[in-house]
Amino acid sequence: MSQRVKIKQLLSNEAVQYETTVKGWVRTFRSNRFIALNDGSTNNNLQIVVDFENMDPATLKRITTGAAISATGTIVPSLGSGQKVEMQAKNIEILGDSDPETYPLQPKKHSLEFLREIAHLRFRTATFGAVFRVRHTLAYAVHKFFNDKGFVYLHTPIVTASDAEGAGEMFRVTTLDPINPPLTDEGQVDFKEDFFGRATNLTVSGQLEGELGAMALSDIYTFGPTFRAENSNTARHLAEFWMIEPEMAFYDLEDNMNLAEEFIKFVVGYALEHNRDDIEFLAQRLVEEEKQKPQAERSEMGLVEKLEFVLHNQFERITYTQAIDILKNSKPNKNKKFQYPVNDWGTDLQSEHERYLVEKHFKKPVIITDYPAAIKSFYMKQNDDGNTVRAMDILFPGIGEIVGGSQREENYDKLVAKMEALNLPVEEMYWYLDTRRFGSAVHSGFGLGFERLILFVTGMTNIRDVIPFPRTPKNAEF
Ligand code: 4AD
Ligand code: MG
Repeated sequence: MSQRVKIKQLLSNEAVQYETTVKGWVRTFRSNRFIALNDGSTNNNLQIVVDFENMDPATLKRITTGAAISATGTIVPSLGSGQKVEMQAKNIEILGDSDPETYPLQPKKHSLEFLREIAHLRFRTATFGAVFRVRHTLAYAVHKFFNDKGFVYLHTPIVTASDAEGAGEMFRVTTLDPINPPLTDEGQVDFKEDFFGRATNLTVSGQLEGELGAMALSDIYTFGPTFRAENSNTARHLAEFWMIEPEMAFYDLEDNMNLAEEFIKFVVGYALEHNRDDIEFLAQRLVEEEKQKPQAERSEMGLVEKLEFVLHNQFERITYTQAIDILKNSKPNKNKKFQYPVNDWGTDLQSEHERYLVEKHFKKPVIITDYPAAIKSFYMKQNDDGNTVRAMDILFPGIGEIVGGSQREENYDKLVAKMEALNLPVEEMYWYLDTRRFGSAVHSGFGLGFERLILFVTGMTNIRDVIPFPRTPKNAEF
């Protein structure tokens, strides 16, 4: 029996006149003669030419879109398939039938909305095959980047009692009966009876635990799922998303920004190099999509150009105060104002403001630093001005915020004072504060939303389309 090969390997080595076996799913079957077979290893289909006159008619009928087949035959040069080689089939075996009457994926273009409704089958499409291969490559590149720099991959907990961002957007985790939970004398749910003996939740960020690691191992990163119980049904938010959070001892804010920029450029470049076919396919998809838009709204650059641009240009770096000045003096469109006009220093930037800065004003990724303390998390290092903190957000065209990070407050007294002012549980967080009591040092870190990065690299526009199993307020059955 001949050895099975993956279609990617077969198409890339371009060798001919040998016999082999491939297995995959039928994308199309034309004229009772040409099968386009895909096995998920590449976006390119292998054309298999069937000798239908000498084939069992019952088997021939079972070659339908979606069917799993095994094909054995000779690899020969191809003229018409768009590939250099094709297979002249000697034997076709049906491994799994797919009833053409009920198989939801027809050999035509389906809308992403429709495919979201059949999310269990969308992996079979060219678009999602490309997206999830790129996702894989980016994940691999994340580990490669940090590993090559000597960072330690630290696994931080999923179930935790701490609220790392102090924002209260947490999913509760409990073993208590939700209908009849035990109550305290005051009528509150008594978490003492719980398996963990206290209220726990799914992590919103691994940062605080990451800081514990960094204050001993120097450089660590986390890469895992994080959870936010924010009911925002937007194309940029998920209830469960993956975050990459490096944390570095002896790094100040500038070192932090430099690392973040180098990191993003590395992973984007790595995907471009290793998934060129998939990215070019997605770029073409985007061109088709752009054609549906009015001329004025079409993007000036293609996907590959956009990625190349990011690789070869320095990110703009400005302070929050500079950003406010720019926004105060600008009109987003000839006659349209911002929905939320920027009048005062101190308000948080809305996504329309972020997009204006990145897409209209600078036309490149922008790092905004030194935000007002009042709109950022408790752990950020306070500046001497008393008003701002050493925060940095990285904003990307078409995406908005892709990274949030900061230099951390390493001064014990200042951190405690800040926590007290915000009514955070100082005593319960002794473990965090101990890093500031014993051998404290300047340190920094950031969090990159993995799905937002994938949106950028694939040119997809809805975050539900770049995670295999999106968890949103409306989507959780599998
Ligand atoms: O800005 P955030 O909330 O920062 C933190 O969690 C810090 N603890 C990170 C750190 O300094 N270690 O989140 C970081 C990034 C955002 O910039 C965004 O890219 C992504 O995580 N993000 C989300 N992605 C998808 N869905 C959501 N609901 C997201 N919330 C944040
Ligand atoms: Mg943020």
